[in-house]
Amino acid sequence: MDKPPVLISEQAIQKRVAELAEQVSSDYANKGDIVLIGVLKGSFIFLADLSRKLTIPRTIEFIAVSSYGSSSTSSGAVRLVMDVRGNIENRHVLIIEDIVDTGRTLNYLIGILESHRPASIRTCTLLHKAEAAEVDVDIDYIGFGIGDEWVVGYGLDFAERDRTLPYIGTITPDD
Ligand code: IMP
Repeated sequence: MDKPPVLISEQAIQKRVAELAEQVSSDYANKGDIVLIGVLKGSFIFLADLSRKLTIPRTIEFIAVSSYGSSSTSSGAVRLVMDVRGNIENRHVLIIEDIVDTGRTLNYLIGILESHRPASIRTCTLLHKAEAAEVDVDIDYIGFGIGDEWVVGYGLDFAERDRTLPYIGTITPDD
């Protein structure tokens, strides 16, 4: 099967992830340690790369959500599949997302995590589809802005395929 055409190369991703890590490290330099919360499944590769480039003390947690709907559209209804396991009360939380599309997932996650009473919550996403925004949600760190198209690779999938591509590619889903 043909490989999806490249939208963002492996080199461009690595360069941008290094820049984000530098910025996050400097912003949190005097705040003690942070807890990075990766949103499963899509953020696992971004989280792995970003977390290893930080120069501040950090721990890792995961949270899992699912959204109903077809594999290539966001239906809007978000459901919690797995909450964080560690205690994040009074900790500085940085949510790590693969992509923010309508903003519903991130908005929902902020609500869930606020109930754990962290010291602060900030948000970081590798990709942002600004044109697709339906919910107003604050994003503190954005890797790349992209158009309203379906992307795969570097953790992102289409129907569970193409997550391990080393670059971000585009596909045209037919559902
Ligand atoms: P939102 O709730 O509409 O912001 O959607 C966020 C979630 O939809 C992401 O965490 C992804 O799981 C999924 N998603 C949205 N757009 C894409 C895409 O282009 N490729 C892969 N997954 C996507």
